[in-house]
Amino acid sequence: MPLEVYQPPHRILLGPGPSMVDPRVYQAMASPLVGHTDPAFFEVLSDTSELLRYVFGTRNEFTIAVPGTGSAGMEAAVVNFVEQGTKVAVFANGFFSDRFTEMCRRQGASIARLEKPWGEVYSDEEAESFIAKESPDVVMFVHAETSTGALQSPAAIARAARACGALVVADCVTSLGGMPVEVDRHGIDIAYSGTQKCLSAPPGLAPITLSAKALAELRGRESSCVSWYLDLKLIDEYWGKSHRYHHTTPITMFYAVREALRLCRQETLEIRFARHRLNHLAFVAGIEAMGLSMHVRPEHRLWTLNTPRLPAGCDDGAVRKRLLEEFGIEVLGGFGPLAGEILRVGLMGASSQRSYVLLLLSALETCLGRDGAVRAAESVYCH
Ligand SMILES: Cc1ncc(COP(=O)(O)O)c(C=O)c1O
Repeated sequence: MPLEVYQPPHRILLGPGPSMVDPRVYQAMASPLVGHTDPAFFEVLSDTSELLRYVFGTRNEFTIAVPGTGSAGMEAAVVNFVEQGTKVAVFANGFFSDRFTEMCRRQGASIARLEKPWGEVYSDEEAESFIAKESPDVVMFVHAETSTGALQSPAAIARAARACGALVVADCVTSLGGMPVEVDRHGIDIAYSGTQKCLSAPPGLAPITLSAKALAELRGRESSCVSWYLDLKLIDEYWGKSHRYHHTTPITMFYAVREALRLCRQETLEIRFARHRLNHLAFVAGIEAMGLSMHVRPEHRLWTLNTPRLPAGCDDGAVRKRLLEEFGIEVLGGFGPLAGEILRVGLMGASSQRSYVLLLLSALETCLGRDGAVRAAESVYCH
C-alpha cells in the first residue's frame, strides 16, 4: 500500500530545541538548489559569515558554519585544537561540559575538571584560581547550559585563559541569537553553536568562529586532524578564495540559516535580547505565582532556557504527556541529577513569544491544579 504524504502534528515547540521556525525560513528552504560550487552559492556563504559575525559579536575572519548539529561544532573545536597530551581545563557543571570532556578523553587529552552541582556557576575568583593552578593549553566552558538553565559569565574565564596563553572555548549553543555572546569583547577564541535553538532554523548546521590566535594555531598545526570531515583547515579552503571542494555543502540548510540570521538582523540583537528577557521574566512570574520555584538563582538564569522545579511528588512525565497531547506543547524534563525534578522550557528565537508564554502557563495551571500564573505574567507585560 502506498504511504501517504507525511503530515506532522501541529506542535508548539517550547522545549530545549528545536524551537519554532519562522515561515520565512521555511519559505527560503523551498528555493531551488544551486550547486555548492556555483558563484551564486558562494554569495550565500559570504552573507552567512557576515550575519554570523553580527550575532557572535565578532570581526573574526574565520566565522563559518559546519555541517551537522551543535555537537559537530563541539567536535570541530575538540578535534582541531586538542591532541594527544593537550592539557584541557573544563568547567564541569552540567551535561554538555561532560560531553566536551568525553570528546577530549577520546583525543587522549590530559583533562582537569572543576566540578560544581548542576545549576551553579563559577565566580571570577574560582575561575581564575582554577586556570592559574592548572595552567592548561585549552579552557572550556558552557556559556548557556541547557541541562540546568544556568548562564556562565565568560569574562574572568577568558581573561585568566589569556593570562596563561591558553585558548578558550565557549559552547554558545543555547545563547547565540537569544542572549549576548560578545566573542570579541570577552576575548573568546573558539565559540560554536547550533541552528535549532535561538536562531530558530532547523537543526543541521553548527556556526563556529575562531579568533586570530586560534586561526594562527590552526594554520600552523603540523599534525593532521584525526577527523577528515571536521578538519577546519580543509573546510577553510572551501570557504576561502580557492573554494576548493571539500564536501557537498547542505545548500538548503544555508538558505534557511541565512534567512534566520536576516530575521535577527532585521529585529536587531538589542530588541531580540529584550524580547527574550521579557518573556523569561513573565514566565518566571507565572511559575512563582503558582507557588513553584526556579532551579537557578535569579542572577544566573538563562532567558532562553527556563528550569522551574516541580512540586514534590509530581510526575514530570505525566505533566509533559498532558501538555503534548491536550495542548500540543512540547517541553522536556530534566536528566542526570535533575531527572524528575525540573521541566526544561525553551523560550528561544521564534518560540519566545508572549502568546506562547501565556498559553503554556495556562496549560500548566490546568495540569498542576494551580492558578494565578497567567495573571502574574500579564502584569509583567503590562508594566
Ligand atoms: C549547550 C549545548 N551544547 C551542545 C549541544 C549539542 O547540540 P546538538 O544536539 O544540536 O548536537 C546542545 C544540544 O542541546 C546544547 O544544549
